[in-house]
Amino acid sequence: MKRGKTTAEPAPPVSLFLFGAHGDLVKRLLMPAIYNLARDGLLDPNLHIVGVDHNEVSDAEFASRLKAFILEQAKAKTPDVPGDQVIDPAVWDPLAQRISYVTGDFTSDDTYQTLALKLQANNTANAVFYLATSPRFFTEVSQRLNRAGLLYEQPNAYRRVVVEKPFGSDLATAQTLNAKLLEVMTERQIYRIDHYLGKETVQNIMVNRFSNGIFEAFWNNHYIDHVQITAAESVGVETRGSFYDQVGALRDMVPNHLFQLLAMVAMEPPAAFGADAVRGEKAKVVGAIRAWTKEEALANSVRAQYVSGTDGKPGYREEPRVDPQSQTETYVALKVMIDNWRWMGVPFYLRTGKRLSVRDTEIAICFKPAPYAQFRDTSVDYIKPNFLHMQIQPDEGMYFDLQAKRPGPALVIDNVKLGFAYKDFFQMQPSTGYETLLYDCFTGDQTLFQRADNIENGWRAVQPFLDAWAEHDTVSEYPAGSDGPADADELLARDGRAWHSLG
Ligand code: BG6
Repeated sequence: MKRGKTTAEPAPPVSLFLFGAHGDLVKRLLMPAIYNLARDGLLDPNLHIVGVDHNEVSDAEFASRLKAFILEQAKAKTPDVPGDQVIDPAVWDPLAQRISYVTGDFTSDDTYQTLALKLQANNTANAVFYLATSPRFFTEVSQRLNRAGLLYEQPNAYRRVVVEKPFGSDLATAQTLNAKLLEVMTERQIYRIDHYLGKETVQNIMVNRFSNGIFEAFWNNHYIDHVQITAAESVGVETRGSFYDQVGALRDMVPNHLFQLLAMVAMEPPAAFGADAVRGEKAKVVGAIRAWTKEEALANSVRAQYVSGTDGKPGYREEPRVDPQSQTETYVALKVMIDNWRWMGVPFYLRTGKRLSVRDTEIAICFKPAPYAQFRDTSVDYIKPNFLHMQIQPDEGMYFDLQAKRPGPALVIDNVKLGFAYKDFFQMQPSTGYETLLYDCFTGDQTLFQRADNIENGWRAVQPFLDAWAEHDTVSEYPAGSDGPADADELLARDGRAWHSLG
């Protein structure tokens, strides 16, 4: 995020080492993002990309594979645009000349000696080591980078390490991982990614809240009845069965992405948009989530798994590389409470799941209803509460649900929308969401990255659910392509509330 600037300067020269160079992340997200940054003139002509992985490929072959990935991704989004318009040679060719590849074992010191030589040859003082690897390598790669002297910073020569999720699998493992990383580098060198923070609509929550004076007045428990945070996906586990079956919806989505959304909505105004101030406020609000007892955690959570639906697609247990007896949840709904002055008594309902009817990531803020008294002698028998919807994806935008009188002699109230859609106001260049994150890492802005305490507070807040489920590992079911399990509706119905409909 560019603080205090309306236009961004190119990032300084840097060597970007991509560990896990042949993995899906590099292919689907990182390389297209690097290309987009180059297209927008935000990279220094001296940016070097160094792939690191165990397969044997030449520099040229690696560069041409990266080009093919970018093309493939772009074609999937805009099938009608010809290839040479998708990749502009004026952008790609200079970038390709600075792409190289190191074949190496992540667990061998020799690899890191080669990387040190590579860095010297690239002649960039700065280096970013991007761990797009399985999490089991995070500690080892960091320790070996340190042993090779690659994490040693000097004035005007930074060394940064980007760590992808999953960052731990519970509070204890996250604490251990943080401790191990902090043995070999400082917090300022660690960039823990949550790709939700790369989304424009997520960054916009903060700007909306804090640049529009009207919001603060009613952004509290006097006026807000409850908040719903939804991340619904229509896709299933696709090719990630073996990973997902160990993880499940709660770990995969809640302590990271959903809590980022919750923090953006619920945090106190930071004193400035700097990394320390923003991350400090987020740590406080996620840290204020009430720790349920095991009984409360069970009562305030729903876990479910998709079974084959009417579209004939397989249920979760029939997916490739998933245990046919699996009890892993592909859907979770939770009720959490934030114990601070602003939010006391306001439930936050969270839900996320795979193979639901639509893709829909949204925050819906439900306001307390107007008093009914004035409508007593009319045909109106119920006043609906107002909702503010922040639509994260797709159809990015924001709108209020308001009540209005339907024209005509009878007093009939209709629901109308007051809002804005991104596409009506802004021309958005194609992006993956990683552009901002990479750029911020190159320029040293940690605002959109998770600090150690942010990560640990997220795990601390979900730990009661993990503990409770470890003793009651049964999941309910929902048909693929539906809006989720019936018990999720009951979770809200019990409080006299209902989920807003998906889509
Ligand atoms: C990832 C999860 O972090 O986020 C995936 O591991 C999930 O399971 C994805 O599909 C959702 O991201 P997005 O940007 O599509 O909402």
